[in-house]
Amino acid sequence: MLSIRNLHASIGDKEILKGINLEVKAGEIHAIMGPNGAGKSTLASIIAGNENYEVTAGEISLDGEDLSELAPEERAHKGVFLSFQYPVEIPGVSVTNFIRTAINETRKANSQEEMPANEMLKVIREKSELLEIDRKFLSRSLNEGFSGGEKKRNEIFQMAMLEPKLAILDETDSGLDIDALRIVANGVNKLKSDKNAIVVITHYQRLLDYIVPDFVHVLYNGKIVKSGGKELAHELEEKGYDWIKQEQEV
Ligand SMILES: Nc1ncnc2c1ncn2[C@@H]1O[C@H](COP(=O)(O)OP(=O)(O)OP(=O)(O)O)[C@@H](O)[C@H]1O
Ligand SMILES: [Mg+2]
Repeated sequence: MLSIRNLHASIGDKEILKGINLEVKAGEIHAIMGPNGAGKSTLASIIAGNENYEVTAGEISLDGEDLSELAPEERAHKGVFLSFQYPVEIPGVSVTNFIRTAINETRKANSQEEMPANEMLKVIREKSELLEIDRKFLSRSLNEGFSGGEKKRNEIFQMAMLEPKLAILDETDSGLDIDALRIVANGVNKLKSDKNAIVVITHYQRLLDYIVPDFVHVLYNGKIVKSGGKELAHELEEKGYDWIKQEQEV
């Protein structure tokens, strides 16, 4: 589904990604771990089409289609979803209206009719129940005054509504209390199917007890330096990044 080959990217004259290779197939969950500043959020932003970064070499394709010339919204319409490490606030736009617009824009871009209002309400009800989101919350302005955990949970709600082909979750676990972590993780697990794929960026093994990855990758200094199964996350927790650093220096 997602295929990244030899991706190099810079901001100004600073090279951040230094040759990333990653293959994610439908039905798979991949976790990306790595120290602060390694390039994890940069990689996520570039897949989603953030134009602040310059891709200097390599390719990103989704189901065989090259994404490089596509704007962020076109990528979203093709089913790429990114949940941000720091979600933005949009005053005056309610959670419900934001999601309604996003869904109908995507349908329009794929030559589908708008979702009928009653169906929209039904899906909103279903998905908010799945993520245990209070209905009152849905009429509030998007992210305005939301607590850190509420923002994260709301992003998973957007993901549940949009049913993306490829979801990238950047530190969705940070700032969630224990119950919210479990609810969000359960939500993600229920959304998993053999037709979509999920990439979770996280610092902590804890999240991966709930969202069990098929593969774990370590991003270090702009490169994926290690890949393995879910046991790699345990190994990292135990040994820390010095272990990776030492291996890199040999
Ligand atoms: N807009 C920017 N201007 C300058 N430097 C940037 C910019 N965006 C990213 N960087 C730099 O790129 C490097 C990678 O940042 P990135 O946010 O991808 O790291 P990360 O792996 O997500 O880290 P964390 O675990 O702390 O979230 C950092 O050194 C960061 O300072
Ligand atoms: Mg980050």
